[in-house]
Amino acid sequence: MGEQEQMRDRPIGVFDSGVGGLTVAREIMRQLPNERIVYFGDTARVPYGSKSPETITRFSRQIAHFLQTQNVKAIVIACNSASSCAVEALEQEMDLPIIDVVRPGARAAIAATRNNKIGVIATEATIGSGIYSRYIKEQDCDAMVLSKACPLFVPLVEEGLWEDPVTDEIAGRYLAELIDVGIDTLILGCTHYPIIRSTIGRIMGDSVTLVNPAYETARELKRLLQEKGLESGHRPGLGTELYRFFVSDAADKFQKFANSILTYGILSAKVINIDEY
Ligand code: DGL
Repeated sequence: MGEQEQMRDRPIGVFDSGVGGLTVAREIMRQLPNERIVYFGDTARVPYGSKSPETITRFSRQIAHFLQTQNVKAIVIACNSASSCAVEALEQEMDLPIIDVVRPGARAAIAATRNNKIGVIATEATIGSGIYSRYIKEQDCDAMVLSKACPLFVPLVEEGLWEDPVTDEIAGRYLAELIDVGIDTLILGCTHYPIIRSTIGRIMGDSVTLVNPAYETARELKRLLQEKGLESGHRPGLGTELYRFFVSDAADKFQKFANSILTYGILSAKVINIDEY
């Protein structure tokens, strides 16, 4: 087997602070069914959304080093908070293609807006980094970007309150100012938010387009793999483990959540000591 062929058969590394990145992994599984995935969820140190950029970058670096030991051919930063704080460091330091979730989401929002008023909802770390707003304005300087941190959405989703009056109430409060400004496009800038998409969509109304960066990221990954000749051309053979999951703590809890959102059932997640990387 030639070197390029061997490279094509390698898995894609996908990481997140915990379970949220599974919404991105799910899109990659849908759009790139021939690709193997090694997923890492930093369940011992979640959430990232309330941490400092320095800490998030340090964690992301360790995870990228771990994924490198798994012989991945590309790394997807499937976490908005980690993408916001660590993408530039990882791009400089790693000798691998790095795909983040922020840039594809920003591009899709620019393509979708008609009135140039774009909303971004995300964690405090992502909003604090100002990165969505920066990317959007770099490409369309006339765009108006209204950003809003929604820190309670992550615990609501993890508690399973996907369709619940409590979630409606909190979402109503968070989203009110975005409605007042008249945005026509809203970026779901956190891995958990697509899971409560129907609640957010109902409150924002039909005239607002919701952008899911997970979907856009999988498209971007496909394009990049094709461009670099790294796309796996065939379904991995029988006996090959298509998807492998690693976490830094609480594998059972991770597995339970994963099985509630992935159609592909996961049998186990392995706990590793991420501080070793
Ligand atoms: N995965 C994170 C994000 O997309 C949300 C959870 C966390 O705060 O760690 O920003």
